[in-house]
Amino acid sequence: MAEIKLDVFRYDEGVDAVPHRDLVTVDLPETTTVLDALEAAKAQVDGSISFRRSCRSAICGSCAMNINGVTALACKTPCNTVTNENGAISVDPMPNFQPMKDLVVHMDPFWDKYTRLKPYLQPADRDADHDRERRVSPEDMKKLVAVANCIMCATCYALCPVVSVDPAFAGPAAIAYAYRFIEDVRDGRRDQRIAQISEDYLWLCAHCYACSYCPKHVDPHDRIVDVKRAAIKDRVMMNERGPRHALVVSKTIKQTGMLAETEVILGTVGRFNIVGLLKTAPLGLRMAAKGKMPPPFVKPIPKVDEVRTIFESLEVPVS
Ligand code: SF4
Ligand code: SF4
Ligand code: FES
Repeated sequence: MAEIKLDVFRYDEGVDAVPHRDLVTVDLPETTTVLDALEAAKAQVDGSISFRRSCRSAICGSCAMNINGVTALACKTPCNTVTNENGAISVDPMPNFQPMKDLVVHMDPFWDKYTRLKPYLQPADRDADHDRERRVSPEDMKKLVAVANCIMCATCYALCPVVSVDPAFAGPAAIAYAYRFIEDVRDGRRDQRIAQISEDYLWLCAHCYACSYCPKHVDPHDRIVDVKRAAIKDRVMMNERGPRHALVVSKTIKQTGMLAETEVILGTVGRFNIVGLLKTAPLGLRMAAKGKMPPPFVKPIPKVDEVRTIFESLEVPVS
C-alpha cells in the first residue's frame, strides 16, 4: 500500500466566490487509478468531493479532468505515473470549460457544437429503396472505424489552444465527428456537412497537434486535415479565407521552397479586396517599423525541385 496525496480543486459555483484546494490522503496500492483514489477520498475522507464517472473502463468518457496539468481520463491514469515533485497528484477541472462543482464542468458548449453537426445519418434515398440494410464495403468502413471509437470525453477539446482563445471554434471532437458522416457513403449531405463545419470555423485549427493526445486514438487532428482536404477537393466554401490561405501557402512553398508572405496576404485577403487589404495596413506598418516587412517577391531556393517532389509524392492539391 502507498500513501496517495490528492491535491483537489474545490469550488461550488452556487456558494464560492473563488476556488480553493484541499489536500486529501488515502492508502491504496500505488498502481491504483486516479479515479479509484478519488472514489476512496470521497468515501473515506470527504463525501462532498464531486467528479463525474460511470464505467471505470475508459468507455463512457465521463471522468476526463486535468491531472498534474494534463487532461486525461482519471480511470485510465495510474497514480504512480503522475505523482508530482511534491509527491502529490493535483486534480483540476478540464480547461476550456466553466467549473460547476469541484471537478465537474459545464459541458454545454461542447455538446452544442456536437449537436450542430446533426450527428446522425441523413441518406439521400429512402429505406424502401434498399432490399435489406444499406451496405458499406469493408474498405469504406475502415475510414470510419477509428473515429467511431470517440467516447466524447472532451479531452481533445480541453487541450485545444484555439478553443481557449476563440470559443466559437467547433473544436477537434466535433470536426472529427463531422468527418465520420462526411466520409460515410450512406450519407447524402456531404457538401452541406462540409459547409456547416466550415461555418463553425474549421479553418481556425492551427495544426498544433495538442489534440493528438486522445485516449481512444481517434487522432482528431488527422481527421481535421481530412475534412479540409475534402472541402478543397469538393470545392465547398472556397471563397472563405481559410481554404484560400491553405492553398496560397502550399502554392508559394511549392513554387519557391519558401513561404512568400506578401503573396500569402494577397492570396488570403483577396488581391482586389481593397477594404480587406487596407485592414492589414496597421500590421504591415508595425512589421515595417520592426524591420520585418516581407519582400514583395521571393526567388525560388536552389533545390526547389526537391520541395516540389515532396508535394507531388503527397499529392497535395495546389491551385
Ligand atoms: S476525439 Fe478522443 S479526446 Fe476527443 S472527445 Fe473523442 S475520444 Fe475524447
Ligand atoms: S490541432 Fe487544431 S483542433 Fe487540435 S488542438 Fe491544435 S488547434 Fe486545436
Ligand atoms: S469512468 Fe468512464 S471513461 Fe472514465
